[in-house]
Amino acid sequence: MRIGVLTGGGDCPGLNAVIRGVVRKGITVYGHEFVGFRDGWKGPLEGLTKPLGIQEVRGILPRGGTILGSSRTNLFKIENGVERVKQNLADLGVDALIAIGGEDTLGVATKLADLGVNVVGVPKTIDNDLNGTDYTFGFDTAVNIAMEAIDRLHTTAESHHRTLIVEVMGRHAGWIALHAGLAGGANVILLPERNFDVDQVATYVEKRFQHEYAPIVVVAEGAQPLEGQMVTQNQQLDSFGHVRLGGIGQWLAEQLEAKTGKEARTVVLGHIQRGGTPTAFDRVLSTRFGLQAIDAVHEGDFGKMVALRGTDIVRIPLIEGTGELKTVPIERYTEAEVFFGS
Ligand code: F6P
Repeated sequence: MRIGVLTGGGDCPGLNAVIRGVVRKGITVYGHEFVGFRDGWKGPLEGLTKPLGIQEVRGILPRGGTILGSSRTNLFKIENGVERVKQNLADLGVDALIAIGGEDTLGVATKLADLGVNVVGVPKTIDNDLNGTDYTFGFDTAVNIAMEAIDRLHTTAESHHRTLIVEVMGRHAGWIALHAGLAGGANVILLPERNFDVDQVATYVEKRFQHEYAPIVVVAEGAQPLEGQMVTQNQQLDSFGHVRLGGIGQWLAEQLEAKTGKEARTVVLGHIQRGGTPTAFDRVLSTRFGLQAIDAVHEGDFGKMVALRGTDIVRIPLIEGTGELKTVPIERYTEAEVFFGS
């Protein structure tokens, strides 16, 4: 078989490890051939390819980013997008595709599978918000980066008797904020799933100062105050209709400074959370996803996504992964609240 591989959406540590797993097993065990598509769905749309053999995947296991490049191209927003992809796949002799991506990239894969394209999905996102899988790869790395930042911020916050606010990624789901906040011993964690009362946050912060410790507030970029408007840098939308977020941390610092009389500063971790080498957990998960994805293609089990359930890698229909986002359940938030302000 001749198999195309693409990576779409925001990059994340572990993408290269998946590509390596797919290609190494695909060639050495099954004798398949590969075509690398560049920049997500833009690759098959415009016929942008690059060679993808054993040589190309040597040494990429620990490398962040993606050797194939990425983009947020939505085929379904482009005139004749699907027809162009089908034509390019036929012209290149590609029998099947492995799409590695998050809700948007795999959302496109879900629709293409319904239209008869042979596709298998691999769930990627630092946000951990894809349904049907216990974890997506990239999440563990992002959480570790954020945790390390929080650890460092504790000591400087205490020296200067300041509130330090750490803004982490998470548009609709606060998994990074919750896990990094818990692992880093944050005093308040704010998620997109639950609008927060800024006066309550100020009370937590004051309580923490009374204990002679400086507070660390972890806020997901998509968190919003009660009855507030989503805070955005600008209103530009990408091709999947998402606004660019960022700004809630700064807004919160101004509010907390005014309400508590203590200096408050914000650190926006941004793309640092997506860069660099994957953790061991993410390397293993990505590699296992890659190995299982090529098995699915080899067996002709299309329209599926590989997923982690407990310690097993299983295959589920793509729609189960992309139909609905996996947000943080309220019980998980309540569990963490014990530490707020204390
Ligand atoms: O989906 C992954 C993610 O990193 C989100 O956490 C974040 O909101 C978004 O991508 C940022 O996207 P971009 O890098 O395109 O601005």
